[in-house]
Amino acid sequence: MIHETVVTTTSPDGVVHVAPMGVTVTRDTILLKPFRPSVTLDNVLSTGAAVVNYTTDVRIFAGCVTGRRDWATVPADVVTGARLVSSLAHSELRLLEQQDDPLRPQLLMRRVHESHHGAFQGFNRAQAAVLEAAVLVSRLGMLEPAKISHEIAYLRIAVEKTAGDVERQAWLWLLEAIDSHHPGLLPDLPQDPKER
Ligand SMILES: Cc1cc2nc3c(=O)[nH]c(=O)nc-3n(C[C@H](O)[C@H](O)[C@H](O)COP(=O)(O)O)c2cc1C
Repeated sequence: MIHETVVTTTSPDGVVHVAPMGVTVTRDTILLKPFRPSVTLDNVLSTGAAVVNYTTDVRIFAGCVTGRRDWATVPADVVTGARLVSSLAHSELRLLEQQDDPLRPQLLMRRVHESHHGAFQGFNRAQAAVLEAAVLVSRLGMLEPAKISHEIAYLRIAVEKTAGDVERQAWLWLLEAIDSHHPGLLPDLPQDPKER
C-alpha cells in the first residue's frame, strides 16, 4: 500500500527540505521513489537519512506543489534531520540500499525511530480531494487540460460538501496554480476565504 506522506530531509549544511511523497510502508522499512531531479534524493544520498511525516494538514501537500515550502519543523529525535510540527506521527529513517534509475531511483530506508504527537480524527473527503488535486497540479505540464477540468469538477463536490478552512485554503492554492497554467480553464475560481 502507498501512503501519501510528507518527507523531510536536510542538506549536508542543514537546510530542511519538505516534499509530499507516496511511500511504501512495511514493518521495518519504508521505500521512497523520488523522480529525478529531486532535492529529496540528493539529500538522502548525502545524509543517509529522512523523516516521513504523517499529517492531515493538506495545506502542506497543496503548498509544496504550489511553491509554498516553508513549513514549521523541529529537530528529529534520532537522525540528523527535522520533522513537521504538525505531524500526527513521524518515522525517522536511515538509508539501507538504493536502486539507481535514470527516471525514478528507489531508496529503501530502515525505520529507526517513531513517535506520535496527535490523534487521527477520521477520514475527510475534502482532504482526499485536495490530495488528488495536488497530484494533478504536480503533473500540470503532462496532463491534458480537459482531464484536469473534468477531475477538478468532480473533486470540487467533496470540497464544497465537507471542507473546513484548512482544506478550502489548500484547494484555492491549487485552483490558482491551475488557473495560472491554463488561464480560463476553470470557470468559477472561488474568492480567497480570508478576503470574504
Ligand atoms: C500526494 C503527492 C504524492 C507525491 N509522490 C511523489 C513521489 O512518490 N515521488 C516524487 O518524486 N514526487 C512525488 N510527488 C511530487 C513531489 O512532491 C514534488 O515533485 C517534489 O517537488 C519532489 O521533488 P523534490 O524532492 O525535488 O522536492 C508527490 C506529490 C503529491 C502531491
